[in-house]
Amino acid sequence: MQTADAIRARRSVRKYKKGAEVPRAQIEKLLEAAMLAPSAVNSRPWEFVATDKEEILQKLTEAHPASKMLLTASWVIAVCARPELQPKHNFWQQDCAAAIENILLLAADMGLGTCWCGCYPAEPRTSAVKEVLGVSSVPVALIAVGVPDEAPAQKGFYDPARDLLISAFY
Ligand SMILES: Cc1cc2nc3c(=O)[nH]c(=O)nc-3n(C[C@H](O)[C@H](O)[C@H](O)COP(=O)(O)O)c2cc1C
Repeated sequence: MQTADAIRARRSVRKYKKGAEVPRAQIEKLLEAAMLAPSAVNSRPWEFVATDKEEILQKLTEAHPASKMLLTASWVIAVCARPELQPKHNFWQQDCAAAIENILLLAADMGLGTCWCGCYPAEPRTSAVKEVLGVSSVPVALIAVGVPDEAPAQKGFYDPARDLLISAFY
């Protein structure tokens, strides 16, 4: 699939084929895509927790109020920030967002569904997710990954009113 097609194909999927196998090798490819993302001063201020353990998926739905789709997902990938790896800057949220989007786009290319569930800076979900995962890093997002069992309509669209070409001012 061309990158432009993956961008168009991506949707937030909230219903997956429960129990569908998504091989670990595919998850590793997604993590590679995440870690190929750009980051400020190449600080790579992130770590990733991926699991297909049903018990953890279930606990995460209790910790995060808008993550019920994890109950049918095959995996969750938690994208967590390590701000201490970027002491002179405060761009780690942007760095993690770039990593998240890389995961979503490669998953779309693979025919997998995903849903980005934001954590940081919302509380109490960030602290609750951190506790479930047992990490010292900052959970920025949970990404549900699975075989789609729905085909949501496209929500994104090009809006010329938001396209403020600088030439328009000169
Ligand atoms: C920062 C961020 C946080 C989000 N958090 C959630 C969430 O907690 N739960 C959820 O179901 N969707 C979440 N979404 C998905 C959005 O609702 C979705 O991207 C938006 O409705 C557009 O739909 P689309 O992704 O299918 O284009 C989040 C998206 C972003 C970018």
